[in-house]
Amino acid sequence: MTIAELPLTDLDFEPESRGLEALRAWVADIAALTEPDSVEWCDGSLVEGDRLTKLLVAEGKLIRLNPEWRPNSFLARTDPGDVARVEDRTYICSTDEADAGPTNNWRAPAEMRAELRGVFEGSMRGRTMYVVPFSMGPLGGPISQLGVQVTDSAYVAVSLGMMTRVSSGVLDLIDAGQPWVATVHSVGYPLTDARDRQRDDVAWPCNETKYIVQFPESREIWSYGSGYGGNAILAKKCFALRIASVMARDEGWLAEHMLIVKVTSPEGKAYHVAAAFPSACGKTNLAMLRPSIPGWTVETIGDDIAWLRQGPDGRLRAINPEAGFFGVAPGTGPGTNATAVDTLWGNTIFTNVALRDDGDVWWEGLSEEPPAHLIDWRGEDWTPESGRPAAHPNSRFTVSAAQCPAIADDWDAFDGVPIDAILFGGRRATNVPLVAQARDWKHGVFLGATISSEQTAAAEGTVGELRRDPFAMLPFCGYNMADYWGHWLRMGDKLGSNAPAVFQVNWFRKGEGGSYLWPGFAENARVIEWIVRRVEGSLGAMDAPIGRLPIPGDLNVDGLDLPTADVDALFAVDRASWLAECDLTEEFFARFGTRVPPALRAELASLRYHLRA
Ligand code: GTP
Ligand code: SPV
Ligand code: MN
Repeated sequence: MTIAELPLTDLDFEPESRGLEALRAWVADIAALTEPDSVEWCDGSLVEGDRLTKLLVAEGKLIRLNPEWRPNSFLARTDPGDVARVEDRTYICSTDEADAGPTNNWRAPAEMRAELRGVFEGSMRGRTMYVVPFSMGPLGGPISQLGVQVTDSAYVAVSLGMMTRVSSGVLDLIDAGQPWVATVHSVGYPLTDARDRQRDDVAWPCNETKYIVQFPESREIWSYGSGYGGNAILAKKCFALRIASVMARDEGWLAEHMLIVKVTSPEGKAYHVAAAFPSACGKTNLAMLRPSIPGWTVETIGDDIAWLRQGPDGRLRAINPEAGFFGVAPGTGPGTNATAVDTLWGNTIFTNVALRDDGDVWWEGLSEEPPAHLIDWRGEDWTPESGRPAAHPNSRFTVSAAQCPAIADDWDAFDGVPIDAILFGGRRATNVPLVAQARDWKHGVFLGATISSEQTAAAEGTVGELRRDPFAMLPFCGYNMADYWGHWLRMGDKLGSNAPAVFQVNWFRKGEGGSYLWPGFAENARVIEWIVRRVEGSLGAMDAPIGRLPIPGDLNVDGLDLPTADVDALFAVDRASWLAECDLTEEFFARFGTRVPPALRAELASLRYHLRA
């Protein structure tokens, strides 16, 4: 068969085409298209992980860290052009352009398939193609889903093994007829060309041209040209958010960019909280919070993604579909996230951090005093006088969740945990208060839909630029964002009085002098305390046009050296700038035309009315 005759697999998983037969046929198709030297099936075992990391070290693609400081841990340095998600090369290929919506790049499926066929043709020449079967969520769980990624990167195969549940048990479930999501990844750096001319491999193979392509209708993912994080670990953003959000819309559940924590009050009552913050805006920090206030504990369930479904008791239940953390390194230190620092004691892959002379790692924020000499993320000599960061701002660690000392006992509960409160947050220097409660579900959906946040280094783009990031899902919603808001409203109808309470939080408000008003980090427990007391009904609240605010004196600031003026500033509602924000919201909604749910337009009208009153 010639390449032209090959279907660029469009498996729509008719029941008779399921099972291992279909999987093997698909793998054979991909191999025929991409022409790897060999195909290896992964089982996620420790032996396999050890073999692959040793191979990567031998190939110069990983540096083994000094095992006395950081056992079984590695440093990867990417190509300087492959350090973050590439949103302008990310596509949603639905049949109808309107189904992708104005916030996604759309391409016609047939056209994109034809283009991808050319791109992937021979793209794995000279390499091994790994076939990695994985489960998102506990294997066989009622909220879990299966997937298979083929990749020509051993680094990605190992990372996937830490971030998901890779096992041969997945193949058993596929054999039993369970559906699975097909994902294809190539770094786009073949080692031989069509005429068998060879070239040497490099430490971080990738391609200047990148494609991150989702076909939501056939539930397929094709990723080309990048080896980095969300571009390459397709189980994560591409599947667990973009494809899963479409599955969730069709099946009546939610796939969200949310952390999940279990909070226990001094009275010993446990609550579960899910929170959506945009990329690099503090999900991992809150997921691993060590409360500063006595009697409270926070335990980790997930730090990036939540899948939520209504349970048999009518309540919303959530799982963390992942099994590991791919967390931002800079800013992670003993004072900001001691739990993360403890999690990273060993068995960790670091990407784009700095290397110490003693063979350990360092990044900005790990210690107050930087070491006198380092090798920076580009592999160059660095001293504190160099005047540039030693670690890339989006450098990250990959580590298994089970290694987190604060992991909750119910973190991998088969049918998830019941959610008591949902938080929406972002980086906002102005306007948005430290905390506000939504008046009801509809108002909560409005708060989520209108999140804006200063852009971070997690994606290519202009850091610091304020942009709309509804539900922290702007780069991750696999369909029309306005339809997604409608789906959230319908979920509220379905949940009725069982719906969790909804809050808005902002750790990043700044004072006149430009510094943060709120100490943040461990002190965020004080906000969690107020939220839990509101959920319990033991504290009242004050109605403001933008939502319900703490009654003065209710937010516990005991022992904080926080001037009253700062507390006031954290909750100040400036009507003029809020009205200006409403105008921007109207403009934003206008982009979606008639697809914006009327309930959200009504919320905006009501907000304006109350601001003018
Ligand atoms: P992704 O993994 O990209 O989805 O992001 P994340 O939301 O998990 O990011 P993470 O928790 O790693 O965000 C880290 C950034 O948020 C660092 O710059 C932290 O310093 C900052 N941060 C987290 N919590 C706080 C806080 O309470 N106050 C302040 N000022 N900064 C915070
Ligand atoms: C994010 O950018 O939101 C991340 C990192 O969690 S990545 O997996 O690279 O998308
Ligand atoms: Mn994320």
